[in-house]
Amino acid sequence: MNSKGLAVLSCCLLLFVWAECQKEKPSKTTEKKATKELKAKENKFSRAAGKKVPQGSSKFLKKGQAKPMNVTPSQRQPSPLSILTRAVAKGQFQKVPDTLVLRAREMLDLRCKGKMVKWRYPPYLDDDDTDRRLRIKHFERHSQLIVVNSTAADTGEYSCWSFQCYDSECHNGEDKLGKTYIFFTDPQELFVPTEDYYEVIQMRTNHPTLLPCQVTNPLAKVTLHREFPPENVAVDGIDISYEVKRGFTIHHPRPSHAGSLFCMADMNGVRQISTKYMLIYVNYPSSVPKPAIQASAASFHIGDNFNVTCTVFGEPEIAVDFMWEYPGQQIGRPPYVRERTDLVRQGGQVQQESESILYIDEARAVDDGLYSCTAENLQGTTTVSTQIHLLQTTLAPRKAKTG
Ligand SMILES: *[C@@H]1O[C@H](CO)[C@@H](O)[C@H](O)[C@H]1NC(C)=O
Ligand SMILES: *[C@@H]1O[C@H](CO)[C@@H](O)[C@H](O)[C@H]1NC(C)=O
Repeated sequence: MNSKGLAVLSCCLLLFVWAECQKEKPSKTTEKKATKELKAKENKFSRAAGKKVPQGSSKFLKKGQAKPMNVTPSQRQPSPLSILTRAVAKGQFQKVPDTLVLRAREMLDLRCKGKMVKWRYPPYLDDDDTDRRLRIKHFERHSQLIVVNSTAADTGEYSCWSFQCYDSECHNGEDKLGKTYIFFTDPQELFVPTEDYYEVIQMRTNHPTLLPCQVTNPLAKVTLHREFPPENVAVDGIDISYEVKRGFTIHHPRPSHAGSLFCMADMNGVRQISTKYMLIYVNYPSSVPKPAIQASAASFHIGDNFNVTCTVFGEPEIAVDFMWEYPGQQIGRPPYVRERTDLVRQGGQVQQESESILYIDEARAVDDGLYSCTAENLQGTTTVSTQIHLLQTTLAPRKAKTG
């Protein structure tokens, strides 16, 4: 492609990216308007609530007194220890259930009991720096998290925990955890919007793979599709399963799962597709390598030849890298290493034997010491060592120690 074509292409790309940005980032002016609307609504609400709530019970609604609003029927009740509450009107709080369904643009006002409180919330709220819609305020006995003018992208888990510090040591209170998953429904955004048009996902052998197409409405009907050739992917709940808060999970990835997949949501006649997921299959080891180290001799005389062998048995088609550390390294003794891999049968199973051999020719005094082999695969590294000693002989008399 010539440079002109390239320039046009990059221009198009920029335009596309800009257009996508406009879609995602709300404009300031409309936001102000909605905030006003929201405030007005809030005032109206608190006025209405003020009449209904009897005095003295303003802090927490008693169990069963009022049904929480906007919740799915399937939700479980919050644990009695929950420290998380939500302001539903002025001075009126409710314990937060496991799942909450709010409408986008509604304000979220969470309170967490505790002197020192930390919050966790969807990462989008941190990235969203153009308009600080997230506010966290700490008070003496609680902390407050507010999301104004919420969007579908705020859908996700919100949690808080309180911790205590004694003598500069801080402890998380295990039981002092509040957690909820909040859907912010938006008829225009059935999927939680993401930054990327497509996402590359590595599928590893023996590792479940998640296609994180999260919906903003738990009632949306979600299906999984392959782009080429276009087809529905069967979701049987065993091989592939769907969870409304997470997306699709491929439990036992196989090379045949690779390719371009996407989710489709269906809600009240509106159909939308998610980010596309480019699934790449990677042969992945089930564990870190377990090398064994073996020296041809535990000791040597000056001038001897010896070698140290590092061996790993593992799954076929899994690359293993070896690194050596040895005493002669310090004086730059040239490494003389040979590596090989073989398929062998062990206990009725085909295994791959990977081996690295370090050769020490015409050994010198400097070769006395610790020999370490580090074997590495995609899961991690393991190091094994052996000590090899120089044997004193009349040919190499020990120098008298002075001082
Ligand atoms: C507020 O939210 C939504 C999106 O943020 C947007 O469409 C609307 O214009 C915004 N209004 C506000 C508040 O900004
Ligand atoms: C390692 O050294 C021993 C002793 O010198 C020798 O017998 C053996 O063949 C060597 N092993 C390899 C793999 O070269």
